[in-house]
Amino acid sequence: MVAATDAGSVLTPEWDLVVRPGDPEAVEQLFNAVAPNYDRLNDLLSFGMHRIWKRQLLGWLRPLPGGHWLDLCCGTGDLALVLARQLRPGGSVLALDVAEEPLAIAKQRAAVEPLLEISWLQADATDTGLPSYRFDGAVMAYGLRNLSDPAAGLKELRRLLRPGARAGVLDFNRTAEGSLAARFQRFYLRQLVVPVAAKVGLRDHYAYLEASLQQFPEGDVQVRLAREAGFSEACHRPLAAGQMGALLLTA
Ligand SMILES: C[S@@+](CC[C@H](N)C(=O)[O-])C[C@H]1O[C@@H](n2cnc3c(N)ncnc32)[C@H](O)[C@@H]1O
Repeated sequence: MVAATDAGSVLTPEWDLVVRPGDPEAVEQLFNAVAPNYDRLNDLLSFGMHRIWKRQLLGWLRPLPGGHWLDLCCGTGDLALVLARQLRPGGSVLALDVAEEPLAIAKQRAAVEPLLEISWLQADATDTGLPSYRFDGAVMAYGLRNLSDPAAGLKELRRLLRPGARAGVLDFNRTAEGSLAARFQRFYLRQLVVPVAAKVGLRDHYAYLEASLQQFPEGDVQVRLAREAGFSEACHRPLAAGQMGALLLTA
């Protein structure tokens, strides 16, 4: 557990942060703690929509059968599973996450579909130790926001992709301060997400979501960082009336 910090001041005053965004060890502990409830809360809090947004991301990326793809920050593995089905026959997914508990759940979920080619790796997305220019494509859902250095994450992602490969990074969108979308987002995070998570003892863990979002680069900044990381093409598309965003990249 990490004590409340300055970052707590961006939240409603009565909430302490269990994790300060940008602290890699604390983030890893947070996702280990959340893992047993993660899928259920994800379905509940997004009304099942996260599955649609992930499928939309894959719809934009159009992974082809036979391709070898990466899922960075794979968590409990639902995007890796959908992706691996689309890459059949002959394709594969290497799914990695820094935290042990979500990976253990991902492996259990994959075990019921033994014909899917998925390898699981516990590693840091900013420094994977994997060989360069190996992959035909990559996805990262709700991961970039959690990295201590998103720019380093994008550089590592670029390093891993062969030239011309496509990648998609899905996450919450940083809405413009004062906009209707921002007001809705704040209401949603404070009045729905945190109280629901509190019911399973994870109030402070989900309060981290708003704090991490406040430090997350806006879409146009993500595009700039991606270009600086060496991607030849980068654009940011809003999803869910601007509540979510997808950074679409070509290496
Ligand atoms: C919000 S979850 C998203 C999981 C999954 N991609 C999904 O969309 O459901 C974020 C995941 O990122 C992982 N993560 C955070 N920092 C990481 C890092 N530096 N390297 C790899 N994974 C990381 C966490 O352990 C967690 O499983």
